[in-house]
Amino acid sequence: MSDPVLQTTGLTKVFKGPDADIEVLSGVELAVHAGESVSIRGESGAGKTTLLYILSTLELPDAGEVRWQGQNVLKKSADWRALRRTTFMGLVFQSYYLIPELNALENVLMAARLAGKLDSAKKERARDLLAQVGLSERLRHMPGQLSGGERQRVALARALLNRPALVLADEPTGNLDEHTGAEVMDIFIKMCAEEQVALCLVTHNPAFAARTSRQLYMRGGAMEEIGSHEGTEAQR
Ligand SMILES: Nc1ncnc2c1ncn2[C@@H]1O[C@H](COP(=O)(O)OP(=O)(O)OP(=O)(O)O)[C@@H](O)[C@H]1O
Ligand SMILES: [Mg+2]
Repeated sequence: MSDPVLQTTGLTKVFKGPDADIEVLSGVELAVHAGESVSIRGESGAGKTTLLYILSTLELPDAGEVRWQGQNVLKKSADWRALRRTTFMGLVFQSYYLIPELNALENVLMAARLAGKLDSAKKERARDLLAQVGLSERLRHMPGQLSGGERQRVALARALLNRPALVLADEPTGNLDEHTGAEVMDIFIKMCAEEQVALCLVTHNPAFAARTSRQLYMRGGAMEEIGSHEGTEAQR
């Protein structure tokens, strides 16, 4: 069997608090295979955001390994990781992080710019992704002229532009009302399945979590497997 897209062993992370140190991760073991979707739930403060930052290596652990397609990335340089990250993974956060001075299309194309590969094929793919998320009529709208749900759909298109193997999403619908959140999550899960991208989805919503192929729960700094079903929703 091929290497998992993402694998960790023994991840630990301790934050220095004003009074005492807090051990947020205490040996997290995680393996995500190609095309698989995994949800991660857990109480507020359980360490879900910290874990996603470490999986992306935007934050570094105190101990343990992070492997991207088998490569032990903590042994590589920060520059190597930064460049590899641009094509290997897409990131989606609760608060969109669009560049306010760029329109929707240019925001999506930023992913190609960062990877140093902006060509006409990427421009066509950006338009195509924006059409798939229902924003064909919003290509030149600035983020300030888009609704929250529309902004998050732009962020999703940006995350998928470089055909990553993996998308990490931290409460992508956390800032949206229930109806819009459900709509965005539908598009999100469907597109990740269609593009055969592995997905790690942090969510507080049990109904969204149930739609991924495996359900994990973070507790006491470790990961528990709480459920799974064959294939992703879109494959069934
Ligand atoms: N830079 C930091 N310095 C000190 N403590 C931190 C830092 N970042 C996070 N923490 C602490 O680590 C713990 C885990 O935080 P984290 O943001 O990962 O939780 P979470 O599971 O994402 O919570 P939520 O569901 O509320 O988003 C919290 O107790 C937090 O106070
Ligand atoms: Mg969080």
